[in-house]
Amino acid sequence: MNDMRPVERIVDTDKPKIAARGCQVYYGENHAIKDVDVDIEDKAVTAFIGPSGCGKSTFLRCLNRMNDTIDVCRVEGDIRIDDEDIYDRKVDPVQLRAKVGMVFQKPNPFPKSIYDNVAYGPRIHGLAKDKAELDEIVERSLRRGAIWDEVKDRLTAPGTGLSGGQQQRLCIARAVATEPEVLLMDEPCSALDPIATEQVENLIDELRQNYSVVIVTHSMQQAARVSQKTAFFHLGNLVEYGETGQIFNNPKDPRTESYITGRIG
Ligand SMILES: Nc1ncnc2c1ncn2[C@@H]1O[C@H](COP(=O)(O)OP(=O)(O)O)[C@@H](O)[C@H]1O
Ligand SMILES: [Mg+2]
Repeated sequence: MNDMRPVERIVDTDKPKIAARGCQVYYGENHAIKDVDVDIEDKAVTAFIGPSGCGKSTFLRCLNRMNDTIDVCRVEGDIRIDDEDIYDRKVDPVQLRAKVGMVFQKPNPFPKSIYDNVAYGPRIHGLAKDKAELDEIVERSLRRGAIWDEVKDRLTAPGTGLSGGQQQRLCIARAVATEPEVLLMDEPCSALDPIATEQVENLIDELRQNYSVVIVTHSMQQAARVSQKTAFFHLGNLVEYGETGQIFNNPKDPRTESYITGRIG
């Protein structure tokens, strides 16, 4: 119909945002992550799926060095964000975690006001030069967390007084307040009701415009709804990784097929 349409180009998605090579994780004698290689895209949602105990959370925690906080845990291999080795001695894990934000299963607002929950990170990282700038960061973050309209008239009220779904969106606002580039979410909806889950899923879909989002989920339906890429883990191995549609409709590995058809899990 339209001869003038532009010639379709294959967009070079070029460099991955996160690249892991030969990643091993041990908890004492327990070899929890076995030689994982993966490239994670920028501006996309990647889902980690697999049976309970297969290592999804463990691998997620490698990506912002949260495993450093677990005494018995040992991480080996090479993990790069924008080609920078995040386990390099010169990397400060506190700075890294501002750049690679995390949202947990159970909403965990600080016992502080809604405002202070979001202002906390920008304050410790010195991101605002004055109160007006901090106010702007707080508003922008709450908007990104899709919760501004619900809390703008009660910013001094405690964050813990919000509903579960609102608390989780507040935690997402808190995570984005330090201008991260990657957002890690470990089963962020598992404590939420279906309506709050839908709101958070919609938010995740918006967030991918600005961030590389990695979400652990035990819900295959959720992975299919929110992600573009899916990684299937089994017994500490990354068994299969690809476009979400391919993983669910045309899995290559029999273990993936068993899991998605409900035979293992
Ligand atoms: N803090 C920890 N200390 C010791 N072992 C752990 C810890 N967290 C996880 N593990 C072990 O690592 C393996 C993977 O667990 P995990 O990453 O939590 O799996 P998933 O998130 O897929 O359910 C399991 O064998 C689990 O018992
Ligand atoms: Mg887990």
